Amino acid sequence: MNSLTLAERVAVTDKLDYLILKYLIDKRDKFEYIPKSTLLRDLNLGEKELQISLLRLAKNGAISKTKVRGEDSISITFTGLDIVSTKSLHSRKIVKSLGITIGEGKESRVLFGYDFNDNTIVVKYHRIGRRSYRKKIDNFHDRNWVSMTLENARREYEALQCIKNNMGYVPSPLGFSTNAVAMEYFEGVPLYRAELQRPDYVLDSILGTMRIAYKYCGGLTHGDMSQYNVLVNENEEIVVIDWPQANRNEVTLLKDISRILEFFEKQYSVERDLEEVLNYVKGYS
Ligand SMILES: Nc1ncnc2c1ncn2[C@@H]1O[C@H](COP(=O)(O)OP(=O)(O)O)[C@@H](O)[C@H]1O
Ligand SMILES: [Mg+2]
Repeated sequence: MNSLTLAERVAVTDKLDYLILKYLIDKRDKFEYIPKSTLLRDLNLGEKELQISLLRLAKNGAISKTKVRGEDSISITFTGLDIVSTKSLHSRKIVKSLGITIGEGKESRVLFGYDFNDNTIVVKYHRIGRRSYRKKIDNFHDRNWVSMTLENARREYEALQCIKNNMGYVPSPLGFSTNAVAMEYFEGVPLYRAELQRPDYVLDSILGTMRIAYKYCGGLTHGDMSQYNVLVNENEEIVVIDWPQANRNEVTLLKDISRILEFFEKQYSVERDLEEVLNYVKGYS
């Protein structure tokens, strides 16, 4: 069943399957793999019905199994998270249907979608794998990869919401659930591929958005600001995308500003004073 689309996987997922997936998510900080006997007991299920459901979930790629101390034990997968979030966004009438993949990065997969008025939207599915989890383990030692993935989706959604509410240039957030964030689709190209006529104007739009994030969202900075995370359209309007690593660290703020200034200086010979820009973004000038 590996060639199924996400929408098809959602369609073949049963009510009991959801119950199990949600249970696995709820228990994430207690066990990575939950013993089958614990599932049976906590969910009060018959052995046969659990077996059928687990088979269907495994075929659908939603769970993985392993033996822990000799007992069959179950964990949710990224696909399992995608199924739960898609179902919830659909039943809350945020996402009507899904389209093709726009991009697949290290920590996310971005799909086209449609809302219930048939507008094109974007759904971003976060997935922090075990590899990046290990790298970040120092900061999150009591969190597993499911929790980190869910935190990323929430952080991205909350950053978009605050910045949009304060008139910054980001895609309007439409909703979030589990590991997915639904947002407005912005038709444009990444900044590194654009040929700008008004680079100063575009840079001001980016810095203005950073200032809004800092001033009105409690000192927030993007955390991965670069020419890859800004989209530009034909009128040279922009949105800053990709906010899951947004944080309130001053060192990160300085790195974010330096990286974007460096790009404009190299590419368009736009010269700005770092100290002045820093003061502007912080709202001191
Ligand atoms: N709101 C959006 N509108 C249009 N395209 C988007 C939108 N959000 C993301 N994309 C596309 O998906 C790609 C990846 O998105 P991004 O949020 O940067 O995730 P990541 O870098 O983690 O893969 C972007 O480079 C862009 O092409
Ligand atoms: Mg990106």
